[in-house]
Amino acid sequence: MTQPNVGEVLVAHDADSLAKIAAHLVRALLCETVYHQGTARIAISGGSTPRVMNRLLVNQPMPWSSIDWFWVDERAVPIENPRSNGGNAKEDLFDKVAIPPERLHFMPADVGALAEGARAYERTLARYFELTLPTTPDGYRAVRPEFDLLLLGIGDDGHTASLFPGEDDVAIDDRWVLPIAAREGREARLSLSKTVITAAKRVIVLAQGKAKKTRIEQARAGGDLKEIPSRITREVTGQLIWLVDGAAKPDE
Ligand code: 6PG
Repeated sequence: MTQPNVGEVLVAHDADSLAKIAAHLVRALLCETVYHQGTARIAISGGSTPRVMNRLLVNQPMPWSSIDWFWVDERAVPIENPRSNGGNAKEDLFDKVAIPPERLHFMPADVGALAEGARAYERTLARYFELTLPTTPDGYRAVRPEFDLLLLGIGDDGHTASLFPGEDDVAIDDRWVLPIAAREGREARLSLSKTVITAAKRVIVLAQGKAKKTRIEQARAGGDLKEIPSRITREVTGQLIWLVDGAAKPDE
């Protein structure tokens, strides 16, 4: 059995420096990837820290036409809705830089049947990663899109992406994209499955604030995925970085 991945922890002084370091790191990693491969594929999450980071990326020189942007998760709302992750990223970043629209791969969560949106996004992933869409559960586990970079957040309840505690979604490994049912207080969503998240070549988890500290410690220590879905980070096969502020810094 392979060793669980606890990753490395990078600590920023405060929320402001966390967003600055995240922006520099993301830019550097994307530029390096484009330099070596000619293109880069990144998947981004929603949340407050990425919003600040995205605004900082506006002023960074980037090979925009060589980077494909995908989403880790999306809420079932129109893109104009303030809760849309894609809409927020557009407003903060993509509407302000010279990126060809075909490089933006928004998740189609604003559709009647979310399962169809999930299948459509799987087809998009297959196309851009030049993979044949699997037809069997084993196929989905064996052939996976491998993002060059994937950004996650962690919720105060231990969720990551749209994989929430107490739900079976986190255990589903025979799909790439999952429809996530609505629950009281949260709308339905689409989310990449743990199969795709853990296959990324690099994963950076951005977390700030005291409420995240215990959750990060629980995630790194391991245990029941359904209790703390962020524990899927232990299955990341590539490089894992926890980029946190001082308040969220886990005890090692
Ligand atoms: C979403 C996310 C979610 C997020 C965490 C952390 O769209 O809700 O993708 O998983 O990353 O809730 O969010 P914060 O950065 O706001 O703490």
